Order: sequence, then structure tokens, then C-alpha cells
Amino acid sequence: MNVTDAIRNRRSIRHYQEGFVIPQEEIRLILEAAMMAPSARNTRPWEFFVVTDPAVKDSLVNAHPYAKHLKEASLGIVVCGRPDLQNGTDNDFWPQDCGAAVENILLQALELGYGSCWCGIHPEKKRVAAFQEILNTQSVPLALVTIGVSKETPPRRGFYDEKRVTFL
Ligand SMILES: Cc1cc2nc3c(=O)[nH]c(=O)nc-3n(C[C@H](O)[C@H](O)[C@H](O)COP(=O)(O)O)c2cc1C
Repeated sequence: MNVTDAIRNRRSIRHYQEGFVIPQEEIRLILEAAMMAPSARNTRPWEFFVVTDPAVKDSLVNAHPYAKHLKEASLGIVVCGRPDLQNGTDNDFWPQDCGAAVENILLQALELGYGSCWCGIHPEKKRVAAFQEILNTQSVPLALVTIGVSKETPPRRGFYDEKRVTFL
């Protein structure tokens, strides 16, 4: 699949085939894609939690109002920011770096044949605190990405809107 097709074929998937196990080498590819994202000053201020344990999944589902599909998904990847890794500067680009990592995860998962869904955490303070407690981390959870074999074919929701473009 080329990038043009991948970007246009991606959909948020919220229904997954239960019990499907994603092989470790594919998980590794997905995480590598995340870490290949561009990063301001290349500080790479991120950290990833890969969640397959049913009890941890349940806790995360209870901590997030719009991520029930994690239960059916093969796994969730919690993409966390590490502002402490930004070289002590006033560089506050970590959410952008982590957002780029999330998009790479979505596209890599698609190319491997999986559906996925980006579920926002940061800057919702309650969600951030709950995820930090469950994961026992001081990193800042930015997004939960659910990944698995899709059981649905949602219509395309993205579209080109020329009103949002200015050519100068
Ligand atoms: C920052 C962000 C947060 C999102 N949070 C959620 C969420 O909590 N739960 C969910 O099911 N989808 C979530 N989504 C997915 C959007 O609803 C989805 O991308 C949008 O409706 C467009 O659909 P598409 O991804 O299929 O193109 C989020 C997307 C982004 C970028």
C-alpha cells in the first residue's frame, strides 16, 4: 500500500475481532514507526505503553469515556509525552511530536492490515490523571490507540475543503 492510498483508506475503527493476537514482530514495527516520527530538535519526548492484559484494558476503559472498543481490540498503545526529555528548554512541542507518532502508528497498523482508533487523553486533566495512576507513570498520556482486526467498514469522513486553503 502506498502512502497516498494509506492516508485515504484510513478510518477510525471501533469494532474489532475479539481474541486476535498481533505478532510481536508487527507490534515492534508499529512502535518503530511511531519512533520514526519527526520531533522538534529531535528530542523524541515520548514513551509507549503496550496494553494487552484484560484487567489493565478494563481499567483504561473505565478511565476513558470514549474508548470502550479497547476491550475488543487486540491491544492498546498509550502514547505518552516526556516533557522532561526536551533538554530543559522552553520547547513545548512534545504534544506535536507525540501527535506525529500517533499518526505513524495509525498508518503502519493499516499497512499491516489492522484497524485502529486514536482516543484523546491530554489535555483532559481527569483522563491524564487516571491513566497516570493506572500505568504508574509520571509521563503525560496523550492518546490511547486501539488496534486490531476490523469488524466494520465505516465510510470516509475526511474530505478536501478548498475554503480552508489560502494560496499566497
Ligand atoms: C485528538 C483526537 C482525539 C480523538 N478521540 C477519540 C476518542 O476518544 N474516541 C473515539 O472513538 N475516537 C476519537 N477520535 C477519532 C475521531 O473521532 C475521528 O478521527 C474522526 O471522527 C474522523 O473519522 P476518521 O478517523 O474515520 O477519518 C479522536 C481523534 C483525534 C485526532
